[in-house]
Amino acid sequence: MTARMTNRTWLLIALAAASCSKKPADEKITGSGSAVGSGSAAVGSGSAAAGSGSAATSAALVERGEYVSNMLACAVCHTPIGPQGPDFKKAWAGGLEMPEKFGTWRSPNITMDKGTGIGNWTDAQILDSIREGKRPDGSGILPVMPYLNYNRMTDDDGKALVAYMRTLPAIENVVAPNKDLKIAYVPAPKPANERDEVADPVKHGEYLATLMHCNACHTPQCPKGPDLSKAFAGGMEMELPMLGKGVLYTSNITSDVDTGIGAWTEAQIAETLKTMVRPNGKPILGPMMFYQGYWSRLVPADFTALATYVKRIPAIKNKVPASTFTMNMAGGPPPDKK
Ligand code: HEC
Ligand code: HEC
Repeated sequence: MTARMTNRTWLLIALAAASCSKKPADEKITGSGSAVGSGSAAVGSGSAAAGSGSAATSAALVERGEYVSNMLACAVCHTPIGPQGPDFKKAWAGGLEMPEKFGTWRSPNITMDKGTGIGNWTDAQILDSIREGKRPDGSGILPVMPYLNYNRMTDDDGKALVAYMRTLPAIENVVAPNKDLKIAYVPAPKPANERDEVADPVKHGEYLATLMHCNACHTPQCPKGPDLSKAFAGGMEMELPMLGKGVLYTSNITSDVDTGIGAWTEAQIAETLKTMVRPNGKPILGPMMFYQGYWSRLVPADFTALATYVKRIPAIKNKVPASTFTMNMAGGPPPDKK
């Protein structure tokens, strides 16, 4: 059985992408955003039924929301990273600056501070921003933010996530809006709220991989968007001056044996994603080190499902150039709460 991408998946991706054959020119380009997915509602820890409003229900809802936020890794992008690593005193308060070919983007403050964050937004407005890339004032959020992937999130998981965000400390932090980036807003469809088939490892793995936006980094970019003929086949070029020197290329994570990870077992893929250390003992450098702080908190069954899905990504031959990147700091998880 191979990993299946539904028509809807390709529709979403097509929205985000333009083929490489089109004239590159100096037109606006779409960014790292794009989307994968299919399969379908409440994952893992569970049955976070929205509604009744009892204390027990809302505690479960918030717990599920925290779990979802670890999966989606919101805090990786929405927390500033300095020479010592992420500044967790400003967790979720924005201000990370990341240079890219289309310009340097800055992440906004998404804490509930009413003056400088999103504390005045309603639950529905927050959820629309996450799954559709729309702000309450109607403006579009640039697809650096992987809302095209988050579009796949079930309503239950979305409600849980927003409930959790409401419990985080409101931090006052003014972040200047992004201006003059050569990247365009990509409209997203209304979320389909397809079920998350938790009991089916391939489908559940697809839900996880979609929300964890593997494709956003592991698909090479053409001037106008992701090169979908090479989905998951790696080769996106990254320069990360605050993390280290040199150029880092994302790996080919398709099941091609020569140029991808076809020789890895599912257990090895699961272990690598939890630890960020490859089967050969070499650490995975760059942004995934920061994701690991959140991803490592997922339950074993979710790593198994993710690996089951990744193992079935159809093989694409694509030899990725060797990276010259050296890291000048540790990634590592955020401090444990409690
Ligand atoms: C890959 C980096 C990245 C990830 C991951 C990410 N975001 Fe964002 N987000 C951004 C950037 C960059 C912007 C600003 C884009 C712009 O200027 O239009 C943004 C914008 C937003 C906004 C709009 C805020 C405003 O004031 O305009 C919200 C809300 C938001 N993100 C919430 C989230 C949540 C919740 C998650 C996790 C589910 C998340 N983001 C994950 C990069 C990211
Ligand atoms: C923010 C960008 C980003 C995201 C999101 C991301 N990766 Fe990566 N990944 C990278 C980079 C960059 C490398 C190469 C690092 C290096 O060479 O040290 C990498 C390396 C890997 C490797 C090592 C492959 C090899 O041949 O050594 C695997 C496996 C992997 N990623 C799987 C995944 C999966 C599965 C997801 C989604 C759950 C994912 N990645 C999400 C950027 C990303």
